[in-house]
Amino acid sequence: MAQETSRSIGPVILLGPPGAGKGTQAKRIEQHYHIPQISTGDILRQNVKTGTKLGRAAKAVMERGQLVPDELVCPMVAERLRDVDCERGFILDGFPRTAAQAGWLDAFLENEFFDKSNGCNRLPIVIRLDVDYNELLRRLTGRRSCPTCGRTYNVHLQPPKVDELCDVDGTKLIVREDDREEVIRERLNEFDQQTRPVADYYQAKGRLMTVNGDLPMDQVTAQIFCIIDNQV
Ligand code: AP5
Repeated sequence: MAQETSRSIGPVILLGPPGAGKGTQAKRIEQHYHIPQISTGDILRQNVKTGTKLGRAAKAVMERGQLVPDELVCPMVAERLRDVDCERGFILDGFPRTAAQAGWLDAFLENEFFDKSNGCNRLPIVIRLDVDYNELLRRLTGRRSCPTCGRTYNVHLQPPKVDELCDVDGTKLIVREDDREEVIRERLNEFDQQTRPVADYYQAKGRLMTVNGDLPMDQVTAQIFCIIDNQV
């Protein structure tokens, strides 16, 4: 597939439960369309790792598998969206996650983003990845990542060539703190209670597109690229 470097793409929002493949697909969209992946989970984990004020406030909440309060997450996203690399568009992976965050984002785009950025005034393309519950558990319990390069593997579905070692740099792979079974249950519970209404919010605005996230990665990617290409 030809790569995109000049077309204005606008905001792309990936919705879906933990383990749906948002991060995996966001990286592929980033590579293909040359717009940045903005993962609120990654930014929060980085803040926890470096011990910032935000990270200290978020750490315990994340370890329980609950959502970090909107008043911490929204300013963090605003700061990132003001960066110049977002002007042609960006991919939100893990945001918005509450109806309040969705309302906040619409207001932010209207007041601060549209028309001030390189003519990029498209409404967000909202894509929900639907995945069967048991498949989500299998993906999350099998996930491993490389602490050096960030590459993700899955012991059931996409194992490294050498057991537990990164193919790229040989670093020992780690299990994410919140991929323990009791925390996974709480994350899925939070998704049901707080994040499902976000899809309803976009559905009511006629902006929600869904893809079958149960399919193999390349087929999911093909569905997503097709949606984006049809909308820009
Ligand atoms: P976050 O980092 O956003 O985690 P999440 O939403 O729980 O999503 P995951 O990263 O677990 O899954 P994913 O959908 O990206 O799947 P992946 O591509 O990795 O959030 C973590 C925490 O931060 C939250 O619990 C909360 O505390 C806090 N937080 C973050 N954002 C927040 C916000 N906006 N407000 C408040 N708090 C916030 O794939 C999973 C596995 O499946 C991988 O092993 C992958 O290789 C495999 N896989 C992917 N696709 C396929 C496929 N098609 N077929 C087979 N295997 C596949």
